[in-house]
Amino acid sequence: MKVKKAVIPAAGFGTRFLPATKVVPKELLPIVDKPTIQYIMEEVASSGIEEVILITGREKGSIEDHFDTSTELENYLKKKGRLDLLQMVQRIAEMVTLVAVRQKEPLGLGHAVLCAKKIVGEEPFAVLLGDDLIDAEVPCIQQMMERYQRLDGAMIAIQKVPKSETHLYGIIKGKRIEDRLYRVEEMIEKPRQGEAPSNLAIIGRYILPPQIFEILEKTQPDQRGEIQLTDAIKELNRDLPVFGYEFIGDRYDAGDKLGYLQANIAFGLKHPELGKKLKRYLKKYPL
Ligand code: UTP
Repeated sequence: MKVKKAVIPAAGFGTRFLPATKVVPKELLPIVDKPTIQYIMEEVASSGIEEVILITGREKGSIEDHFDTSTELENYLKKKGRLDLLQMVQRIAEMVTLVAVRQKEPLGLGHAVLCAKKIVGEEPFAVLLGDDLIDAEVPCIQQMMERYQRLDGAMIAIQKVPKSETHLYGIIKGKRIEDRLYRVEEMIEKPRQGEAPSNLAIIGRYILPPQIFEILEKTQPDQRGEIQLTDAIKELNRDLPVFGYEFIGDRYDAGDKLGYLQANIAFGLKHPELGKKLKRYLKKYPL
């Protein structure tokens, strides 16, 4: 079945990025000159997804505003003859059909996805985390959708990480069934160092069947009081297959300070106006 809808959870408090995130949502912090969430929206739009369900929380109205028309700004740019900027601003508002749902309290990623239940209905849907940036020639979610067409069940994006970092991620144990595709047998959240069953880490892109909602409704919060999406996917895996897809691309955790800086450098070096200048500047800091 074709995936037509995407859920983008962006209701977390972003505590790792305080004080920047006291008022400004981390999803709006720019990577060079574009908010993280715009890169994600572009990934969705160019993959052929028609509708986005944005899960927002406290102080997150500004994310909706970013993807809305801005008459005042548009009139100003028209008056100044800045048609290039005008087009750019208008394009953002036309990218996708956006519906925002408010998650009243940040009760976890699983709970955020559950907030989209009514709008998603009875069809498989994509989930893209609002702070997980993937730079890829073919958008990551499109790569996943292409593989998912022939499959039933759920699909999660995975990526090989250094063994020394497996304790920072959810890690899968799985059987490789074809190039880049694994049948997931187990998912272990942040295994202790040396105890990970593989170095295949779960990254913030999923394709989920609608059955996940019933499971999420019954999933108990963890010791931190959060309903975890991973717990619900584990439960789903008892009845429906869960696949891990090792995508092609570079991933940055833009909700983490180091990941954010790395993304800015990588995208800055590729930027048509800034690339050369930044490269020259970075030579000041030899390794
Ligand atoms: P994170 O765990 O990275 O977000 O969730 P967070 O809680 O904002 O981060 P820190 O640890 O406090 O810095 C991954 C994604 O899920 C969303 C977040 O906005 C982020 O995009 N999320 C998380 C929700 O929408 N609701 C939640 O209850 C939790």
